[in-house]
Amino acid sequence: MRRRIVAGNWKMNGSKDLVNSLVGQVRSEVASLDNGVEAVIIPPALFVSDVVRLAGGEIAVGIQNIACWDSGAYTGEVSAGMARDSGCDYALVGHSERRQLFGETDQQVAVKVGRALASGLNAVICVGETLEEREAGRAEEVVSAQVRRSVAEVGGDQWHQVVVAYEPVWAIGTGKTATAEDAQAMHAAIRAVLSALGAPADEISLLYGGSVKADNAAALFAQPDIDGGLIGGASLSAADFVSICRAVPGRS
Ligand code: PGA
Repeated sequence: MRRRIVAGNWKMNGSKDLVNSLVGQVRSEVASLDNGVEAVIIPPALFVSDVVRLAGGEIAVGIQNIACWDSGAYTGEVSAGMARDSGCDYALVGHSERRQLFGETDQQVAVKVGRALASGLNAVICVGETLEEREAGRAEEVVSAQVRRSVAEVGGDQWHQVVVAYEPVWAIGTGKTATAEDAQAMHAAIRAVLSALGAPADEISLLYGGSVKADNAAALFAQPDIDGGLIGGASLSAADFVSICRAVPGRS
């Protein structure tokens, strides 16, 4: 059975005050949900330990980026092992902001995925096309290639630690969301790519991200191949984030 995940990527936002006010509220409200959703908070790395402490094991915690290396003279970097040691369960890898603003390549993403999995983290691999690529009719080709290259180092027994987040770049932080039908079509295509690679595709959770809000989450999460969401802006409000967690359909 696939995990139903709603992960909040705070990006470079928030403060100790937000950690202190939001985590406890999300924790108590998510605990009362009976839809089996796994809530994940992914704060800036400096706040990970505080979020872990306040989450009390009831909300999972993630890191937004990890290094390509395990340790050494890489000033400013944080390794997957350190994130795991600090209580993280998840690592985002290859977010489009990392790809676009920091030049991260599919090859680096593949290495980071390998590091995350070897350290015992679940890797949330982010993929997505730009507006230009979509308008040129190349969205599926681009996303499929990103998926294939990003999982190059995944071992046969590590697929259960892999999550893929489809985030069309044109939908991130813009208020524009893919229609539930378009998102579903891409998720089905991603699942087909994973299956062709020999992965247990039916067991891998696929998340949609890009301007998911309380009022559009239910339609997206109702799609058969959309197993949850990766939430940016709306995850900075406890009420909005919990509403999105609540939009995950219950299991029948
Ligand atoms: P958004 O961000 O929800 O603010 O569009 C999503 C993301 O970048 O993960």
